[in-house]
Amino acid sequence: MPKWLEDAVFYEIYPQTFYDTNGDGIGDFEGIIQKLDYIRGIGCNALWINPCFDSPFKDAGYDVRDYKKTASRYGTNEDLFRLFDEAHKRGIHVLLDLVPGHTSEEHAWFTESKKAEPNEYSNRYIWTDFWIKKAEGWFGSIGGEADRNGMYIVNFFKCQPALNYGFLNPTESWQLPMDHPDSIATREALKDIIRFWLSGGDSGRGCDGFRVDMANSLVKGDDEKWTGTSRIWQNIRQMLDTEFPEAALVSEWSAPPQAIKAGFHMDFLLDHQGGGYNTLVRNYKMDYATQVIEDDNSYFKKDGKGDITRFLDEYIPWYESTKNDGYISIITGNHDTPRISANLSPRELSLAYALFFTLPGVPFLYYGDEIGMRYLGRLKTKEGGFTRTGSRTPMQWSNTASGVLPAGGVSGKNRGFSTADEAKLYLPVDSSPDAPTVEAQEKDPGSLLNTVKALLRLRHGESDLQGKANLEIIHADKASPFIYRRGSFILAVNPTGKAAEAPVKSGSNIITVANSKPVYAIGGGSIENGVCTLEAQSFGVWKL
Ligand code: NOJ
Repeated sequence: MPKWLEDAVFYEIYPQTFYDTNGDGIGDFEGIIQKLDYIRGIGCNALWINPCFDSPFKDAGYDVRDYKKTASRYGTNEDLFRLFDEAHKRGIHVLLDLVPGHTSEEHAWFTESKKAEPNEYSNRYIWTDFWIKKAEGWFGSIGGEADRNGMYIVNFFKCQPALNYGFLNPTESWQLPMDHPDSIATREALKDIIRFWLSGGDSGRGCDGFRVDMANSLVKGDDEKWTGTSRIWQNIRQMLDTEFPEAALVSEWSAPPQAIKAGFHMDFLLDHQGGGYNTLVRNYKMDYATQVIEDDNSYFKKDGKGDITRFLDEYIPWYESTKNDGYISIITGNHDTPRISANLSPRELSLAYALFFTLPGVPFLYYGDEIGMRYLGRLKTKEGGFTRTGSRTPMQWSNTASGVLPAGGVSGKNRGFSTADEAKLYLPVDSSPDAPTVEAQEKDPGSLLNTVKALLRLRHGESDLQGKANLEIIHADKASPFIYRRGSFILAVNPTGKAAEAPVKSGSNIITVANSKPVYAIGGGSIENGVCTLEAQSFGVWKL
């Protein structure tokens, strides 16, 4: 287990819209390099960069055409190696995005696999044995695109043919078993990509691991319990432990007991329908056409309709069963979710972040969530984004919204994202007059940005608040507040609009804190004679 994960806090970057340094309207590696000090200044010491490899970009780069070559719009492989160097100099680890379940339909393997004549790549993808014979399940089968007498399975969009790692229980002759040499060849090809980026190719300047896309999607055929897919990851983890023991893998799986047993160091909690994490911040119905939100029962809403136990009932058993072997990663959001600010005010956000950044595991902050960037849900779809597009707009660095340089020519047009003409931007910037920006929030001591910085300073300063230290629930029921203990600290949050109080006890014994006043607080509160009192919408941390 890489030691650096204990105190890691990640920042996710969607490279298209982070910072453009060459004026072409799209972000680049140099832009990320120039903002590393900003990222470190927030308190993030690790990065996850969405796929930045050669791609036709029908799914924002999750359709990889060449795994070993960066997309020229971001820069060269050498630029990415330089990014690793610059990040490492500042104590920042870098994860790339690994897409193991599928490639782009334009990948050279697929071009070969499509051919009627058998070749080395014929079985690299999953083909049925007749031109109108479909495969059951998954996202569907495509016919009529190749000279082969068969249909191929896609893993997501039509442009993403599924790679073939074999079937757990093959039932037809075209379904290869997992131990078929061609199934194993796919796994070994994946290892080759992993080794390439971890060792930095010929440059010797590698990255520090990967976020793994659809990690649970590899093996087909009756693998509902992920027995087969887990075997693949265990094999890859063995390789990492031997060759790259400091490298880390985080899975898009959202089932920590399975993912961590499969060999992942971390697994995300995602917003899948009904998930406990979702009930904290995205427990609503959204009409995407109008962006109107209804029936919002999120725990962090001020109106107090939420219920922390819906999160804890799922989270605590997962935490208890994985805490010795890996980490649960709570996200503020990601490039697939509506922005966390879609339904939450800055105060509600600061309380949500207070919880996320003081729980065990390894938290992930999505770029722009530190200032509460808005969800621009009505934008036209871009690169397969659809309703996700509104969470992918340019980072708001400066106050100037327009695409015209203000008189005097100071930098900062397009919210400081790019000097390109507005029409050339990858996506439009949030031009509303009150859009949050880094420039404004840096100057405001009470801003969300400064709250995030303070929370992360607190976390980095105390090992009891970091990834590994124990979590104990002190008080949790349907009513506020929620009180928990991390090592030598008591923490409590009351997201509701009314003052709240609850006992601070372990069994029947009162827990005594060193001082009734918190060592860190958002709003006001105290612990006296074994009772914690919190003002409306407050959070506090007390030392024992
Ligand atoms: C999950 C990624 O997060 C998403 O953006 C992508 O579209 C799909 N996997 C397919 O790769």
